[in-house]
Parts: sequence; structure tokens; C-alpha cells
Amino acid sequence: MPKSREWAVEAHGLVKVFGDNRAVDGVDLSVRTGTVYGVLGPNGAGKTTTIRMLATLLKPDGGDATIFGHDIRREPQIVRQLIGVTGQYASVDETLSATENLVLFSRLNGLSRADSRRKSAELLEEFGLSEAAKRPLKNFSGGMRRRLDLAASLISQPPLIFLDEPTTGLDPRTRAQMWDTIRRLVATGSTVLLTTQYLDEADQLADRIAVIDRGIVVAEGTADELKGSVGSSSLLLKLADAANLERARLAILDVLGVESVLSPEAGRITAPMSDPDTVTDLLLRLRQEGIAVAELSVQQPTLDEVFLALTGHSATEEEEADAAAAEAEAGNPERELEDAR
Ligand SMILES: Nc1ncnc2c1ncn2[C@@H]1O[C@H](COP(=O)(O)OP(=O)(O)OP(=O)(O)O)[C@@H](O)[C@H]1O
Ligand SMILES: [Mg+2]
Repeated sequence: MPKSREWAVEAHGLVKVFGDNRAVDGVDLSVRTGTVYGVLGPNGAGKTTTIRMLATLLKPDGGDATIFGHDIRREPQIVRQLIGVTGQYASVDETLSATENLVLFSRLNGLSRADSRRKSAELLEEFGLSEAAKRPLKNFSGGMRRRLDLAASLISQPPLIFLDEPTTGLDPRTRAQMWDTIRRLVATGSTVLLTTQYLDEADQLADRIAVIDRGIVVAEGTADELKGSVGSSSLLLKLADAANLERARLAILDVLGVESVLSPEAGRITAPMSDPDTVTDLLLRLRQEGIAVAELSVQQPTLDEVFLALTGHSATEEEEADAAAAEAEAGNPERELEDAR
């Protein structure tokens, strides 16, 4: 395989500045052809901005990138022929029906009238939208719109497909359908670069993952490598009395030897755990200290834990900081818990 076809995306030091906000601050990405690559990060991390630069929709302020060896700055027309972009928000026409939308996209893609009809019907069937095909789009649910949006971007199944948070806000069943579709796309020769806020989604779909935070790639690797950085599983603890949260965190630090993530509004603690056997020790310790447990489970690490492990701060820290400031004004004691971290 010539070098230019081996890598669907090669980006070096991509930068985008909005005012004094360095939304993307030197991002490197290498996406191997024929794989699914996940860009994982919280709100405002710079995921959409990165995709928009790679898709030639936004001019980078620094760095460079190639798509199948073609430079996004010097060869944008060629790049555009190689990619499909599905936005975070559906980009289909409200006033048309699902069929009309897809036929329109097909015609714009140079298909004949008959081929447009056939292709549209196929896609509506595949996305479970046949029933709703003739209905006006304004009656579509969010999930139906999202599926139609993805269908529209697949009319000319491009070699590289950018999917910006393809499953945010979808119910579990629709989400699973999307995952199947994405897998099928890759099985039939496309490369997919998707963004997500969900570790489990990146875990299920992506061959490699870049974790992005405040415009910077803070970690890159396979899902297993990332999870390895936070322990193989995660302990979730809910206390009967939220007043004991901080004492419970100290016990976790002592018994498991790890920092835990506190979610005061939910009265929950999560902590990375490499050996599930140690849960017993922790429970004994909590009983000794008279800390009653309302709920306990062992699950996959959350994005928040990956973040804490990788960056030393929580993925939702900014929102928490805002909430903490509001609480401080109201004299809420939970503020002290936040400060103590
Ligand atoms: N057109 C714009 N003008 C000014 N600021 C922008 C613009 N687009 C994005 N930003 C800012 O750049 C930063 C990164 O935004 P971006 O949309 O890339 O994040 P994201 O990772 O896609 O987040 P989300 O998960 O919420 O979609 C944010 O601080 C955002 O406010
Ligand atoms: Mg976004």
C-alpha cells in the first residue's frame, strides 16, 4: 500500500484559536486506513473544531494535516471528495420528507433519478426509517433525525467518514443500531473518525482512541491501554448518609490506595480498582468506621475516571466549579468537600 493510502488522517500540531481561546492547541492524530478512530473528550474539549479543520470546513491557525496523503490546505477539493461529514446536529431539510431529502442528496451526488430513488429506499430500509419515509421531517424524533443525517452522509459511501457524536442523545436501541451501521461501514471499506463523550462507545467501536482535553491530546492508545491507566474496573459507592462521603474517600485512599471521584449531587463516589477482591477489605473498613453503604457496584471505568487519572482533574470540573461557586454563596458545606480535593 502506498504511504498516502496507509493513513486516512495524519495531523500534526493542529491549532485553532477563537479570540483568546485556544480551542485546539497542537493536536496530532494518525488514523490508519480501514479502522475506527475515536476522539474522546468532554464538552468544549475541541472535538468538533478538530473535525471541522480536517474536513476543510474551518481553516487551521497552525499545524498541517493530510487526508489519504492530500493536504487539507493545498488540496481541499480532493479532500472533500474523499470524506463525508455527519454533524452533531442534523443537517437535513426540515420542509422535505425523509425520502425527498435522500433523493436530493443523491441527485447532488450525481446519481440518476432512478438510482437516487433506489439508493434512498435502501438507506431508509437499513436505518429503519421506511415507515416514516413519506412523513414530513418536523414529525421526526431526535433519534430518527440523527439516523437520517447519517444515511444522507452515506449516499456516496466515502472512504473517510467523520461522525461527530453520532449517538449523543439516542436511546440504547437506536444507539446499538448506529454502532452496527458504523461497523458495517468499516467492514465494507470505509475509515471512520468519530467523536464521543462516552468511554464505552469508544471502547466498543474504536481501534484506537485519542483522549482530548482543552484542545490537547492527553492520551492515545487502544481502549485497553486507556483503561489500564485507571485500573481494570471501577468501584461505585453510594452512602446511606452523604455526610460520610469525605470519610469514605479517606478509607478508599487508605485501603485501595487510590484517589476517588466524588459526585456530591448524586452522593456517589467512584474509584479505579485493579483487584475486585479488595472490595471486601474496603467494606470491612467502612463497617468498622460506622459508614453505612446504600449501594455498591463494580463496573467499567467512566470517562470521568479516565480523565482524573490522565489529567489530574475531572472531565466535568468546570461545571462542578460553577456549581461549587454557587454553593459557596449559599453557604453549602459541600463546597468544603470540593476544596479538600
Ligand atoms: N465558531 C466558534 N467561535 C468561537 N468559539 C468557538 C467556536 N467553535 C467552538 N468554539 C469554542 O472552542 C472550544 C471547543 O469547542 P468544540 O465545539 O470543538 O468542542 P467539543 O469538544 O466539540 O464539545 P462538545 O462535546 O460540547 O460538542 C469551546 O470552548 C467552544 O466554545
Ligand atoms: Mg462538539
